[in-house]
Amino acid sequence: MDRTPTARDRRVRTAIFPVAGLGTRFLPATKATPKELLPVLDTPLIQFAIDEAREAGIERMIFVSHPSKEAIERYVRADAELEATLRERGKARLAEMLHDNAVDEDAMQVRFVMQPEPLGLGHAVLCARDEVLPGPVAVVLPDDLILGGEGCLKEMIDAYDPARAGHMVATMQVGAEEVSSYGVLDATGREGGLILARGMVEKPAPEAAPSRQAVVGRYLLDASIFEALDGLPPGAGGEIQLTDAIAAGVETVGLCGFRFSGVRYDCGSKAGMLAATMAYAGGQAAYASVLAAPPGGLTTAAE
Ligand code: G1P
Repeated sequence: MDRTPTARDRRVRTAIFPVAGLGTRFLPATKATPKELLPVLDTPLIQFAIDEAREAGIERMIFVSHPSKEAIERYVRADAELEATLRERGKARLAEMLHDNAVDEDAMQVRFVMQPEPLGLGHAVLCARDEVLPGPVAVVLPDDLILGGEGCLKEMIDAYDPARAGHMVATMQVGAEEVSSYGVLDATGREGGLILARGMVEKPAPEAAPSRQAVVGRYLLDASIFEALDGLPPGAGGEIQLTDAIAAGVETVGLCGFRFSGVRYDCGSKAGMLAATMAYAGGQAAYASVLAAPPGGLTTAAE
């Protein structure tokens, strides 16, 4: 049988956003507000993830959520009533901003599926199986915010060549003491921005880590990932691990890491959230000062 993927099959058309986690690290803020809606300055984390997927040309977004987090769906979908109220009150710019932020369901499809129990990231991805479009899928973890540069997902899709490696994961180098917080590549070499790999281990002890190339929350996965996840036993931490399913496909579909150009912030931690907020606020302030500058550009004290 000819297994050469057709051009359409090779296109990454679906993005899966696992958003079912309870966000215990941010309690009490997350008691009634999903952690994906916590703002980085004024923009909820989920908005960055949506914008990144949009920039990458994704056609369908699947949110794997939890029944207690219906506020995410309210945020993602357009709210015509709120927009109309804002317009009536002369706040057309705000209405427009909300409209632009929300997913335009004429241009893009949105699906919500539930993951009622926290059985792991692999299980969350498996929950999306019946809703994915044909071909490889992207997985985006909104906790991992990547700022600066081109959108990470777009960069990955531009570099993706399933004939060489059907699974591609975003990676960054971390310190030896940090490897136990990540999935880690068993790296064999480099080729440009790609890190060639023959395996991947979830949260290894420092002395057992095959490298210091840590996986951050952006994945392009061959469609066979769903078969690999189906029936997969729990791994590290007693959870069904996406890492294990990726590692199981190394021989058949291949695996590589991708060194993205932006800066990643771990917004699942308070320190990371704070750092992201400062970086984003700094960018916004610089942008605002350019907008406020007199025609002809910014002046300096020397002028
Ligand atoms: C998950 C993945 C891990 C990856 C990390 C990136 O872990 O299981 O392989 O390195 O995301 O943020 P978590 O942080 O959800 O424990």
